[in-house]
Amino acid sequence: MCGIVAYVGERDALPLIIKGLKRLEYRGYDSSGVALLEDAKLNIYKKKGKVSDLEGQLAGKKLTSTIGIGHTRWATHGEPNDVNAHPHFSNNGKLAIIHNGIIENYATIKQNLLKKGHVFHSDTDTEVLIHFIEDIQKEAGGSLEDAVKLALREVVGAYAIVVMSVDHPGQLIAARKGSPLVIGVGENEFFFASDATPIIEYTKDVVYLDDYEVALVRDGKLSIQNLDNTETIPYIQTLEMELETIEKGGYDHFMIKEIFEQPRSIADSMRGRLKAEDAHLHLGGLSNYMDKLAEAKRIVIVGCGTSWHAGLVAEYLFEELARINVEVEYASEFRYRNPVIEENDIVIAISQSGETADTLAAIELAKSKGAIIFGVCNVVGSSIARASHAGAYTHAGPEIGVASTKAFTAQVTVLTLIALATAKRKGTISEETYRQLLIELENIPSKVERVFENASKIKEIAFIFTYARNFIYLGRGLNFPVALEGALKLKEISYIHAEGYPAAEMKHGPIALIDEDMPVVFLATHDSSYEKIVSNIQEVKARKGRVIAIVTEGDTLIPTMVDFVIEVPKTHEILTPLLSVIPLQLLSYYIAVMRGRNVDQPRNLAKSVTVE
Ligand code: F6R
Repeated sequence: MCGIVAYVGERDALPLIIKGLKRLEYRGYDSSGVALLEDAKLNIYKKKGKVSDLEGQLAGKKLTSTIGIGHTRWATHGEPNDVNAHPHFSNNGKLAIIHNGIIENYATIKQNLLKKGHVFHSDTDTEVLIHFIEDIQKEAGGSLEDAVKLALREVVGAYAIVVMSVDHPGQLIAARKGSPLVIGVGENEFFFASDATPIIEYTKDVVYLDDYEVALVRDGKLSIQNLDNTETIPYIQTLEMELETIEKGGYDHFMIKEIFEQPRSIADSMRGRLKAEDAHLHLGGLSNYMDKLAEAKRIVIVGCGTSWHAGLVAEYLFEELARINVEVEYASEFRYRNPVIEENDIVIAISQSGETADTLAAIELAKSKGAIIFGVCNVVGSSIARASHAGAYTHAGPEIGVASTKAFTAQVTVLTLIALATAKRKGTISEETYRQLLIELENIPSKVERVFENASKIKEIAFIFTYARNFIYLGRGLNFPVALEGALKLKEISYIHAEGYPAAEMKHGPIALIDEDMPVVFLATHDSSYEKIVSNIQEVKARKGRVIAIVTEGDTLIPTMVDFVIEVPKTHEILTPLLSVIPLQLLSYYIAVMRGRNVDQPRNLAKSVTVE
């Protein structure tokens, strides 16, 4: 949450920062701001609303500077307004800061500063931090970077910050703990950002700052020290990301682009790992741990939101294929309990961003109890990926739309590969089933393409239900997590109340909601619970519910019973979620567009939830 961008070099900083903020807007979009250093003067502009509103405020102003900082906010302390927007500045107006994270002990620090006569303009924790840095520098008398380090040693919470000073033109100081920060290293120029998307247009050479590290750019040179002043040599990595993967490429929204990218993102998640014709399956990142997986008595899966749903799919996969007991936990609940972790337990953390604070905290807790941690992340070099002992990346490519789509199918793909490899190692799967599943996995991308052939039909259904007030999604077995995911997608981008349930649970309560105004989406593909789901559909139809059924191609029974059907190709039951979720993503997308919602940046949400 919150996106930060900073630049120092020879280019005009403002357009570069504004463009970067737009790329990071998925991280927060309630207000934004920039600070530019020009002729020993800080020019700060802040505006409630989107980055385009800030742009409007800046239009016509003559601002040329080669150093600046910018921020797009997702409010934590203080309502979204112009004053609470970042950058914030110090009491003497000489320092400016941008910050992503939360300073938990800001109230105590603020009390002390108020006693010393500091005057605050905003309600934010960030303003307190920059006043605190100023105060330390004044009292201790050292350099600005020393004051930053001393302040950060006192701070409880999470931060990625960049500080700029009127007294030190050409200098930027950045630091992180718990919130991401990437430094782009160009020729005579440096970029700082919450992720690499504002940077890749200019350089692919980046340094990921670690927790407790402070980076200083001075006289065109980058140096890094930790809070105890120990110097580290910046480790420069070359990004593989391409610019077109973070642009809309002719689509109206990132979300629809990302939905349509799934054949490729699923294939990319298998590339180099799977070759069905040779019965070959190899996960390089886990190869040293395959025995541990095969010996595991229990796997605990942690994640949040859509990633938690992917975990629920994985529960079926590991139990069915590898006969391992699995528990799937909301990371936010797991971390506040005192969970029992035993020898040989494995924790799998699933996260698209790799930065979700609750998931990161769950990992740290499990690690402290001796668990082996595997990360299934999409963002290379992210905090969760780095905090894990081993793992497998999902290779979905950057996911910009706030509602997760291609990340989910990539997660399910990778988790299927891990479950299959474990089953093979354990000997709990027959050669024949193993071979069939590898072949069928390779067929999934082209079958996803076939689901897209139904897009216009799904659009028509979306039109009919555009103004529905509620929705219920029902599925059994592997389709139960898909029902949850379908309901979540609809809620978050269309703001329609929707609930997902195991279809058989309906009769224990939710059936009371069914009447002629209630649309019910059934995941009714031809699998081992087909007959049961047919009965559940009859129960809903008997109460006049309006049923949209996701069925397997060629089904002749369900179309006679329901109001609308959407077909998906036949596949192995274990792989069903990879196909059955696609129509639900499209349905929610079209409904949200028809309701005029901001699909890519739904209200109150942020892509990467780095607060607890
Ligand atoms: C839903 C969605 C969220 C995320 C959740 C976890 O569309 O995007 O529910 O799935 O915030 O995020 P990651 O996977 O980045 O840990």
